[in-house]
Amino acid sequence: MRCSVGVQALPILGLLLVLGIHRCEAIVHHKFVIQETPYTRLCSTKSILTVNGQLPGPTLYAHKGDTIIVDVYNKAKYNITIHWHGVKQPRNPWHDGPEYITQCPIKPGGKFRQNVTFSLEEGTLWWHAHSDWSRATVYGAIIIYPKNGTSYAFAKPHADVPIILGEWWKQDIFAIYDEFQQTGGDPNVSDAYLINGQPGDLYPCSKQDTFRLAVEYGKTYLLRLINAALQDILFFAIADHQVTVVGTDASYTKPLKVDYITISPGQTIDLLLEANQPNDHYYMAARVYSSAAGVAYDNTTTTALIQYKGRYTPSSPPHLPYLPYYNDTAASVNFTGRLRSLASGDHPVPITVPQTVKHKFLFTVSVNTFPCANDSCAGPNGSRLAASVNNISFVSPSIDILQAYYYHIKGVYGTRFPSKPPLKFDFTAEYLPLALETPRKGTEVKVLEYNATVEIVFQGTNLVAGTDHPMHLHGTSFYVVGWGFGNFDKKKDPKRYNLVDPPLQNTIAVPKNGWAAVRLQFFNPGVWFMHCHLERHLSWGMEMAFIVENGPTPDTQMFPPPSDMPLC
Ligand code: C2O
Ligand code: CU
Repeated sequence: MRCSVGVQALPILGLLLVLGIHRCEAIVHHKFVIQETPYTRLCSTKSILTVNGQLPGPTLYAHKGDTIIVDVYNKAKYNITIHWHGVKQPRNPWHDGPEYITQCPIKPGGKFRQNVTFSLEEGTLWWHAHSDWSRATVYGAIIIYPKNGTSYAFAKPHADVPIILGEWWKQDIFAIYDEFQQTGGDPNVSDAYLINGQPGDLYPCSKQDTFRLAVEYGKTYLLRLINAALQDILFFAIADHQVTVVGTDASYTKPLKVDYITISPGQTIDLLLEANQPNDHYYMAARVYSSAAGVAYDNTTTTALIQYKGRYTPSSPPHLPYLPYYNDTAASVNFTGRLRSLASGDHPVPITVPQTVKHKFLFTVSVNTFPCANDSCAGPNGSRLAASVNNISFVSPSIDILQAYYYHIKGVYGTRFPSKPPLKFDFTAEYLPLALETPRKGTEVKVLEYNATVEIVFQGTNLVAGTDHPMHLHGTSFYVVGWGFGNFDKKKDPKRYNLVDPPLQNTIAVPKNGWAAVRLQFFNPGVWFMHCHLERHLSWGMEMAFIVENGPTPDTQMFPPPSDMPLC
């Protein structure tokens, strides 16, 4: 129980009874058991990792400001960690989850108790495994309601429904990961996309289990869209219905009416669906947005059904919504570039947009290659594929960075992450010399003072193959103040920044051969991971970490480590 007393120690007993109100809330406990569970999809059965046997895993519910406790038991034969994506975890990096960044993995048979503390977030987030590729099936929604007594930034919807987009392989995901590591090439593409764990009508052996959302004509539904896919940015739409975007990454946006949505892995988008159409059912559908030339992709389409209650007269079979073409970059940015913070009314943006910043960083995000003995790897021309930020391909340390930082253990990481690319060249040129493809390996972090104001410009490059990179930061959200194609121009581009109502996000897709600029204040002491949320790019090294130093007062400092931290 967590209790607070409204008024204390009043001398008159009668008044004490009236005014001394004890407000007690039980802290909610959850049990997450990681286990292997047989699942049948696409006509075949395999064993997958789940939480409590469920796919998607259990939904966590909270109100803004709550703390919940999750006991994670690892009953599987693989190491695992669990991350609360987009939850800032103020002063508590110990429970954030990325393996070898803030903790050692939970070993088979092990247990770890994690506090999940909601502070500024309101809307939808999600949780997922953060070790190797186990997040392929280990994920679930987090719904954060407004504080009791406050309301949404829009009329209360009739109901709210998580819509979790996922990805399915017939093969075992650990086998795919091992092969990917060994060959050095692109990983096998998935066999299906999923909506709430189901492929939908367009796949074999799937139709009987298609996810159905029952709606009543005239009512409004809040769809909490989450992209939990391992490797792909997705387009999503609902046939004959426009939807209104009202939030992203647990922060309200100005209402935006759209026909389709682009959603990156890691991102969440809240949308209102008005049930206002005459037929009995309609498809919602999602398929890939894949921008890298020459890279294979899963070209299938997942569907679910919107079913109007009380309408049983069979009309014509439902049709698919319009979805942009697979490589339609213009369609992708056309959606993403229109998001704006609500920034007004009862729900102002929770942090102010930094109008000036102390630190300006330019980070190139690149796909790379390493030469391979006898050209025997499966990457381009026998090379091994890699990826980097500012030409450093991140190497996972043997113990977590947070532990090394806290206990002053030397030799685990370096503090020389570069503020700008080591070599300046035309990053987005059509042809780039092969010599530029090879990155350097390293485990480097960027150390920042408490409350540092920072601008990061992520610059995509055309090395190997230009593509979009959904960059994600742990511990703090950022304002997406600008984006563009080609090379960032530090004289001209900042003049076009939106410093008034930029969207507050934890993940931003840097457009193919373009850039995205974010601003934020690092008010959360700890070690915070930053990485591309396409799992293959993360495995190739497209990541780094920030260390945010303690502030001057006790309540601006990191908590001490919990006693049950898993050991390496
Ligand atoms: Cu979804 Cu490192 O995060
Ligand atoms: Cu990437």
